[in-house]
Amino acid sequence: MDAVSVIRTKRDRGRLSDAQIDWIVDAYTRGEVADEQMSALAMAIFLNGMDRAEIARWTAAMIASGERMDFSALPRVTADKHSTGGVGDKITLPLAPLVAACGAAVPQLSGRGLSHTGGTLDKLESIPGWRADLSGAQLMRTLEDVGAVICAAGPGLAPADKKLYALRDVTSTVDCIPLIASSIMSKKIAEGTGSLVLDVKFGTGAFMRELDDARELARTMVGLGADHGLRTVALLTDMNTPLGLTAGNALEVRESVEVLAGGGPADVVELTLALAREMLDAAGLTDADPAKALADGSAMDVWNRMIRAQGGDPSAALPVAREQHVVTASASGVLTRLDALGVGVAAWRLGAGRARKEDAVQMGAGVEMHAKPGDAVRAGEPLLTLHTDTPEKFAYALESLEGAFDVSPEGTPFEAPALIRERIGS
Ligand code: URA
Repeated sequence: MDAVSVIRTKRDRGRLSDAQIDWIVDAYTRGEVADEQMSALAMAIFLNGMDRAEIARWTAAMIASGERMDFSALPRVTADKHSTGGVGDKITLPLAPLVAACGAAVPQLSGRGLSHTGGTLDKLESIPGWRADLSGAQLMRTLEDVGAVICAAGPGLAPADKKLYALRDVTSTVDCIPLIASSIMSKKIAEGTGSLVLDVKFGTGAFMRELDDARELARTMVGLGADHGLRTVALLTDMNTPLGLTAGNALEVRESVEVLAGGGPADVVELTLALAREMLDAAGLTDADPAKALADGSAMDVWNRMIRAQGGDPSAALPVAREQHVVTASASGVLTRLDALGVGVAAWRLGAGRARKEDAVQMGAGVEMHAKPGDAVRAGEPLLTLHTDTPEKFAYALESLEGAFDVSPEGTPFEAPALIRERIGS
């Protein structure tokens, strides 16, 4: 077997055989296939696709590249959620302790942000003292004691995906359904969760712009889950508008704590509860009531214990950026559009995200929204507040907000599109 013939098969629109897939994924993980060869193959897959059987085999090969975790010794059933990523998507933060408060164990192995979508670990690292890196034993202990853990995936979990994802990021081959589906599902299946709920986003702030593409991605992942005996359900959710009223690390932690305290923006609460219900159903905990766990403080109690278990101080003040810039409405009327991509790129340019993996993020940077589509706004009043430690970034961030929102005349009818558009899975 050699890399050139595997690349040529896919370049010429052929099917990769099981043997070709097993060999190339393994050889690439071991460093025998060079980055430039895998880049060429990733681009050939991007352009020519893979069929269902190829995607299943690719996923299995990535799982086999590393270790598999086993939570079967835990007294509780495990339930996990994965989002394909969006602007202001802080849902994992309130969701993991909420589902744990309802009786499941939630091992949430998360990643860092790249490009305009934020990473869960970056957000939590804005809490003084909190650490993302746990050993396998610490992870198990926290799941036993607290019921929820959000931490970095160890290097042994699907190492083929770690290498390939970094390569795709710099070769413009990320937004490809077979590669996204196999990347996400290989990690989730290797993680060994008992059930999985996927939040597959579509819209300007998501990998998939179109609902039809998001549906195809969701169906592919639900199918991969079924092939591996993992009960998987997907919700298709709208990411044309940012979630909640904040995009940026510490800003989003603050908003998540508001949700756990029984408040918070309506869209964040709606999606948190919908995903919690799906996770609990998938885990067989159909009697649990997540709305009650938010209202009675039990989810907040798990949050406090989860943060402390990872060295964080849940009562410590969160970092605040040194400088603020307020964007005001130029006319009175109704906000009829607030573009997720524009806000996400602004937050990223203000310092909330990183351009390269090794870059540091600013904990207090980001965008605070004072209105969402459908809200009345008045000329001269704040629409957005930009936060950063480096004020020279304001102009660059403001460029990405040009044309990112519309204020229509007072009385313009506005009907908010449904946040949760479809459900896929049995
Ligand atoms: N998230 C992943 O883990 N992998 C992808 O390919 C895209 C999003």
